[in-house]
Amino acid sequence: MSTHNLLLLPGDGIGPEVMAQVERVVEWVNTNSDVTFNIEKDLVGGCAYDDHGQAISDAAMDKAMQADAVILGAVGGPKWDNVAYDVRPEAGLLRLRKDMELFANLRPAICYPALADASSLRKEVIEGLDIMIVRELTGGVYFGEPKEITDLGNGQKRGIDTQVYESYEIERIAAVAFDMARKRDNRVCSMEKRNVMKSGLLWNEVVSQTHEKDFADVELSHMLADAGGMQLVRWPKQFDVIVTDNLFGDMLSDVAAMLTGSLGMLPSASLGAEDATTGKRKALYEPVHGSAPDIAGQNIANPIATIASFGMALRYSFGMIESADLLDKAIMKALEDGLRTPDIMQDGKEKISTTEMGDAIITRLTQLSA
Ligand code: IPM
Ligand code: MG
Repeated sequence: MSTHNLLLLPGDGIGPEVMAQVERVVEWVNTNSDVTFNIEKDLVGGCAYDDHGQAISDAAMDKAMQADAVILGAVGGPKWDNVAYDVRPEAGLLRLRKDMELFANLRPAICYPALADASSLRKEVIEGLDIMIVRELTGGVYFGEPKEITDLGNGQKRGIDTQVYESYEIERIAAVAFDMARKRDNRVCSMEKRNVMKSGLLWNEVVSQTHEKDFADVELSHMLADAGGMQLVRWPKQFDVIVTDNLFGDMLSDVAAMLTGSLGMLPSASLGAEDATTGKRKALYEPVHGSAPDIAGQNIANPIATIASFGMALRYSFGMIESADLLDKAIMKALEDGLRTPDIMQDGKEKISTTEMGDAIITRLTQLSA
């Protein structure tokens, strides 16, 4: 019987509502498996700022560093639009990523069969879609220095962000992508802007070298990131794994997520390097969607992305593949049975609430495991 420690950071907006459903799923796993998850909770984002003036406290950071996995809801909202830049809600998320060294962000874009009609693209373009975006998460323009606004003294100001990548950062994210491809369709497409950016040139070179050295069995292609965006909406099924930098990954993963018609359904995992002695990775799991302040507190948010994020934790942090598959199946079954939160509602289906979707998934977990 093993015990793991989970830190839940529900955050802002719909975060607490969807996280409440995750807690119920965790309880279900505790009752129905020989694994026990201990849950701790803390604040991140705007709620943390309201409580103590920081987007995440040092104490919460300590808990995150100690936890076996962190599950995060969402941060931000218009209420905090005017707070100082370094304590804005997003700063809490970025600190978690940076201090925990979560350099590898896995963002699957899967088209659930039951939702193939919900995409803005034709059904044949996205039916059966299953791609994995591997986004570099601790480097690039998000963290590069200098990062500042300076006053030029002539009535003008200058804003600077810096895109920086060193070889080791590219090497390790490329390795994650190639490894991932081996467990899938064995194809990686690397995206950068080598036609404009020096960091793109280096990215291309290091990905190719890493491929040649350790992953020559995986099929590798390169695309300019803008063309990649175009190809993603033209014929997304041509891709298996896409590996790209922090900023392009942010944009391309939103595009990929929306293709599936199910932005409210997609989970993500952010992983650190494997510890040489324990074999463990630091890890944070979160839905791809945001805090949706416009619908917060109404019990209508879709909890599936956050529940599926716990599913990714079962898979990637705890090696509980069977439980992860079971949870994915329970989600799929609830959809097949016609249950829909308002964001994915379609004609002839049954509209249900956040808590009812939690009920539905838990009921199916029990049925499918019987
Ligand atoms: C994401 C989000 C974040 C990002 C924001 C909230 C800082 O858009 O995880 O994709 O830009 O990385
Ligand atoms: Mg984003």
